[in-house]
Parts: sequence; structure tokens; C-alpha cells
Amino acid sequence: MPLARCRAVLSLLLALSLLSVSAVAQWAPMVTDHDAAERIAWWREARFGMFLHWGVYSIPGRGEWVQWSEQIPTDEYARLADQFHPDHFDPDAWAATAKAGGMKYMVLTARHHDGFALFDDPESSFTAMKSAAHRDLVAEYVAAVRKAGLRVGLYYSPLDWRFPGFFFPGIYQPSARDLRAQYDRQITELATHYGKLDLLWFDGGGDDWLGFGGVEFTGSGWQSRAKNKRYAGTFDWQDDKTVSHLRQLQPSIILNDRTDAPADFRSREGDRALGDFDNQHPWELCTTITEGAWGYQPNARVKPLATLIQLLAGAAGRDGNLLLNLGPRPDGSLDPAQAARVREIGQWLQQYGESIYGTRGGPWLPGAYGVSTHKGTAVYLHVLHPPAGGVLALPTLPVRILHASQLGGPELALKQSPQEVTVQMPPVAADAFDTVLKLELAEPWTTSAVVPVPNK
Ligand code: GLC
Repeated sequence: MPLARCRAVLSLLLALSLLSVSAVAQWAPMVTDHDAAERIAWWREARFGMFLHWGVYSIPGRGEWVQWSEQIPTDEYARLADQFHPDHFDPDAWAATAKAGGMKYMVLTARHHDGFALFDDPESSFTAMKSAAHRDLVAEYVAAVRKAGLRVGLYYSPLDWRFPGFFFPGIYQPSARDLRAQYDRQITELATHYGKLDLLWFDGGGDDWLGFGGVEFTGSGWQSRAKNKRYAGTFDWQDDKTVSHLRQLQPSIILNDRTDAPADFRSREGDRALGDFDNQHPWELCTTITEGAWGYQPNARVKPLATLIQLLAGAAGRDGNLLLNLGPRPDGSLDPAQAARVREIGQWLQQYGESIYGTRGGPWLPGAYGVSTHKGTAVYLHVLHPPAGGVLALPTLPVRILHASQLGGPELALKQSPQEVTVQMPPVAADAFDTVLKLELAEPWTTSAVVPVPNK
């Protein structure tokens, strides 16, 4: 076919098949200020971070919700702080493990729903500073992560089970106001005394699903409020006030969408929430490296390397990040099996990292084959499920593909017609979980348009 006609056919195909895709769920509003894209640029390139759930709940080792799920009275639970001796807490070792795992940022639970702060809050006695540890663990963590050249993130849960006003703000108004004051004060503490923070990861608060106990009174009694269903009572959590103060104190910080205030990125939670492709809003999947809870559980099964790589590639190919959670042991050391798996991911990334870091999802949408990412003139195909017959066939792209290879491996036979691109797959082992191919385009792929892939 002459080049001009070929071009015309390709542009027609482009017009017919390119879509811009975004998720449809209900979310907190996104930031719209001029600096928003610049602020989040490092995070988009990073693609992979380490989440850490660590607190006094790590001692019983039955997950970070243990107080709630076992209905442990607050005074009894508070005694765990006397046993919290983080003698092997070595944040340099945490950061070294994250680096070896190819992770570019870290997010530590500064305070979870139980109310125990790993930092120094002069107005609370339930802190690491004022109990057995006698240390400001957040300060040590921030210094170590910064020193390692990684981006510093903190998780903070505005809710706190110790306050009756959290559950029934209407009838325990002073308690609800105290909780709100604690939220505002602790965020200010964190934003003031620990230098530059790159990321704050809020878990609940405002009118979202974890706000105000996550329950509502209906004709049949108290019920869990559905996820994404908003608190409809009269108490005003004043998220906007606290969050805008935080942004004033830390102008380049980025925030997730679990408050009511405008967010820099959206959170998805759990392996099954990988969800749809979305290159219109920055987003991140958080999930655990082990089966079970986020907080430490002895002998929890570590997920197979294949599962974790497929999640990482699956997130990148949907244009999102992966925040992978570890649950350190009560003494502050990392669980060896979890740390070993992180290092294995890092080894994989040493070989295939160019197909993840600094890429954007697409141009092909996820499909039966796997997912795609791109950067400049390179398109990477993460073939998660090799095609039967050994030939990968995808709808064509409106740009010439010059050649195809296995990333770091041999050149592969490639054909491009106005309808289709086919690549001869390399021999793939039966247990291969991600065969990464690299296509070289004649021009860089700079658009956010995507090509749907028929599901066959
Ligand atoms: C949920 C849980 C919490 C965990 C978080 C991580 O909100 O309440 O335990 O910290 O998810 O995404």
C-alpha cells in the first residue's frame, strides 16, 4: 500500500478506535491548581513504593484492626504501649531493603486507627515518645529515608477508636471536637517538625467511608455504611481547613483522596481492586505482600513473586503505581521472608525496570495478553499470558513500528498491517509470569489516547 494511503487508513483507525478512559467511581475531588502536575511528577515516574504498617498492634500480631475486631477495651489495649520495645528498629535497614526492591518512596503509619502515635505529640500520652520506646520513631524514619535518597511518605488516620465522638459525633460533641482538634494538631506537628515530607497518605476522615465510625442508623438498626457512601450527619470535620494548612506548611506535598479535601492522587486497595485503566487521574493500588492483614502476623504467607510482579506490571499498564505493604515485627525488624521477596522484586526490576519506571500506561489497553506501557519511542508489552500458537496479535498503532525484541533479548519477527501488529513470541517457559517485549516506534508516542484490545 502506498505510504499516503497507509497513513490515511491509520488515521481513520485512530479516529475510530482511540479512547480516553477513566474510572467512573465516586471519589474526592482532584486538585486543579497550576502546580498539580509538577508536584506529582516524581511520583508518577516512581511507579513503586513501600508501605509499612507498624504500631503496638504488631505485638499481638493479629492485624492492625485487632482492637476493634476483638473489642479490646481502650485502657487494656493502651497497656501494649508498655511492651513496645522497638530494639531492632533500624530505619536505615528498611530504606536499604526498599532500595534493593526498586522502590522509590516509602509510607509509614505515623498513626493508625488505634490512636498510638509513632511520633511526639506533646498533648497526647499515647505515643512512642511517652511509653516504653521513649523514641520519636517518625523522626528516625524520616531521616533514614531521606538519607537513602528515597521520597518520604507518612500514613495518618484521622479517626481514632478511643473517642466516642468518632462513633456518635451528634451525642458526644465535646469528644468529636477533641478528635477534630487532635487531627488538626497532629497534622500540624507532622508538617512542622520533620522537615520536608513528600507525601501524606490519609486513611479516612471527612465524610468518607471510614469517617465517623463508618456506621449509620437505618430502620433496622446500626449498619456499616457502604464504601463510598458519605457520612450524612451534622458534625463538620473541617477537612478543608486542616488540609489547606498542611499544604501551606508543605507546599510540594502530595495527598491521596481519603479526605474530603482535593487530592493529588486516588487510592485503590487490595489485589482485586487493580481495576480499570485510567490515565486521566494519577492513582495507586495499595496492597499487602502477605496474605491477610496489613500489620504483622507471624507466619503470614508471602505472596508469590509472580503475583507481585503481575500486580506491579498490571498497575503500570493501567497507568498507576503500586504501594506494597510490609508489616514489620514488633521489635522493628523486617520479617525476613517479606524482605527477601522485596529483594527478588528488585532483581526483576534491575532487568526489566525500564519497562516500568518513568513509563505511562498504554497505548494498548489491558487485555488477555497482559498490559502495555510506553516511554518515548519505546512501547513495552508485558505479556502475562502468552498466546497459544506463539504469535501475539494486537490491533495496529497509527505509527510505524520499526522493530520488536524481547527486552534484553533477541530481535523478534514483526509484521504491521493497517489492521494488525503481530510479533513472534520468544520461547516462553511454562512458569513465565511476565515476558517483556520492546517495540521501537518511528516516532515517540506522546498522546494519552489508547487502543482497545478485543478480549480473545
Ligand atoms: C484500610 C484499613 C487499614 C489499612 C488501609 C490501607 O483502610 O482500615 O487497616 O491501613 O486500608 O489501605
